[in-house]
Amino acid sequence: PPVDVFDYIVFGATGDLTMRKLLPALYYRFRDGQIPDQSRIIGTARSPLSRADYQGRAEKALTEFVKPADLADGTVRRFLDLVHYVSLNGAEPDSTWPALKTLLAESPEDRIRVYYLATAPGLYGQICENLSTQGLVTAQSRVVLEKPIGTDLESADTINDGVGRHFPENHIFRIDHYLGKETVQNLIALRFANPVFERLWSSDAIDYVQITAAETVGVEGRGPYYDKSGALRDMIQNHLLQVLCLVAMDPPGSLEADSLRNEKLKVLRALRPISPDDVAAFTVRGQYARGRAAGGHTLPSYLEDLGEDATSDTETYVAIRAEVHSWRWGKVPFYLRSGKRLAEKCSEIVIQFKAAPWSIFPGTPRANRLLIRIQPDEGVTLSVSTKDPTPTDSLTLRQADINIAFEKAFGTRYPDAYERLLLDVVRGDPILFIRRDEVEAAWRWIDPILRGWAEDKAPLYTYPAGSWGPEAARALLARDGHVWHEDMA
Ligand code: BG6
Repeated sequence: PPVDVFDYIVFGATGDLTMRKLLPALYYRFRDGQIPDQSRIIGTARSPLSRADYQGRAEKALTEFVKPADLADGTVRRFLDLVHYVSLNGAEPDSTWPALKTLLAESPEDRIRVYYLATAPGLYGQICENLSTQGLVTAQSRVVLEKPIGTDLESADTINDGVGRHFPENHIFRIDHYLGKETVQNLIALRFANPVFERLWSSDAIDYVQITAAETVGVEGRGPYYDKSGALRDMIQNHLLQVLCLVAMDPPGSLEADSLRNEKLKVLRALRPISPDDVAAFTVRGQYARGRAAGGHTLPSYLEDLGEDATSDTETYVAIRAEVHSWRWGKVPFYLRSGKRLAEKCSEIVIQFKAAPWSIFPGTPRANRLLIRIQPDEGVTLSVSTKDPTPTDSLTLRQADINIAFEKAFGTRYPDAYERLLLDVVRGDPILFIRRDEVEAAWRWIDPILRGWAEDKAPLYTYPAGSWGPEAARALLARDGHVWHEDMA
């Protein structure tokens, strides 16, 4: 069903995220009839563009980031009619605000307003302060904060305090687009609608868990942001920890937002702390060096990607051996890893079950493994041992898979994560957004790791671009007698 009429005001509207993700996502929801025609998408940024200029940029973004088959001329034109632009410096208190005020005054006071902050996070507090002094925070106003919320606990607190002075917590939507991914949400269905899994979901039956978000891209044009951030802040603090929460949490009492978020928070708080002195034992950080892509062509190093004469000790790869200290999990290792310029683009969860305690077959049956593919090729595979049909004189085993490939099974397009999330804000449903205490708990766990690295308590390894990361990440698992997914038989 369509949502109520809204005004979506995007700060940072000329940036990469708006062009690559937000506009295409809103386009798809519009095309599917979920956005009423009277709604408006108001881009704001410092560039002095006219409305027509900005509509031109929006059109170009759609051409580039929406599948051509999904672009109908008439629909694109009607969508562009919703698009406005105001040249505005959100961080400056005065001069440029009247234009936005006039535009917003055209809507009734009780229209839903979404302020989407896709600027540098350091400006969030100031923008909210300005919105408030300009009288633009109405009872129906919500604010969306893009990650990263800060670079450590202290800066996250400053941002959250700044925004919290002008918006109540239930009007603040901290976005983590991994929670908008279908397969990530499917984890909730898989775990809590299928007793066959949930009954086994603990250290009794599970040997270890791997959560991977691997990318083949380098830093692209995002060097200035990325070099100050690194993989731990960019991916682990948010996306991977959120996925870990959904894998490890206890069943929430209901699908009410706080019920779910309380359970996630418990997981974050139960993470075994990794002190600065522990970083060499439990973390591996790496940076890509020159290497080769699967097709054979040379890939530049991170430093070459940054530009001439660059020096940097920013990590583009992280692997961590985490534990969730609770009755359910005991000492089960949760191996997390993420990196740029790896061999494949894939985000996945491997749940490795324990082996059978005894074998009546020749050889030992392989332990079951549940693979949850977040992307690409979204789906779930359970590997099982079956009887080998080849006629022999004994009952021998063969591995086979029980596989659901969602797109094929359901014959439907998989929407981009932002499509769901952007309209959830309009609906006022925070279930897939991060509460302030979750952000804080995540930083509380990450901060000592950052400190240990800053004090050089763990080496910065290099790995060839196009590989699976530093050898040391293999060694991290080998210590427990385990291997990463790509090395599994
Ligand atoms: C973003 C990170 O949050 O997630 C990027 O800032 C990363 O560095 C991206 O490339 C990965 O998202 P996805 O959906 O492609 O896995």
